Amino acid sequence: MKSNLIAGSLVAAALCTTPALAADDLAAAKELTVRQCSQCHTFEKGEKHGQGPNLFGLIGRPAAAVDGFVFSDGIKEALQGKTWTVELLDQWLTDTLAVAPKAQMVYFQDEARVRAKLIRYLESLK
Ligand code: HEC
Repeated sequence: MKSNLIAGSLVAAALCTTPALAADDLAAAKELTVRQCSQCHTFEKGEKHGQGPNLFGLIGRPAAAVDGFVFSDGIKEALQGKTWTVELLDQWLTDTLAVAPKAQMVYFQDEARVRAKLIRYLESLK
């Protein structure tokens, strides 16, 4: 089952967090994000979508609506018409299933410190 495999690898990724990096270290934030998300996402402007959409310019853009990527009905039902803000991204990374129960991405991150790093890097992509 494809969706179980996705869930398994993401949960594994979420569990191996890096201890004690400086909170304000963008390079470390990038490294963490690349490690956890680049299996499916690209980050540079104009880069091709992967299994998930390119995340350049995420904050401030409409959710589930980027050009050239086919989103699932599950994420569209839950998020279309919304805009990616830091708050929405924090909820998404805490528990994607709580935000969009039928989305094709499954990720949980209980540690606010880790979510803050992911957000710090994604926010810098503009
Ligand atoms: C196993 C593949 C996979 C991994 C790893 C993954 N994602 Fe995703 N992501 C997806 C898919 C697929 C979608 C589209 C979901 C849909 O269509 O239901 C998505 C969608 C998203 C969206 C919505 C984008 C938009 O334009 O609305 C965000 C934000 C996102 N992912 C962030 C992340 C972050 C941050 C990480 C790392 C912590 C991550 N993803 C890890 C597969 C993945």
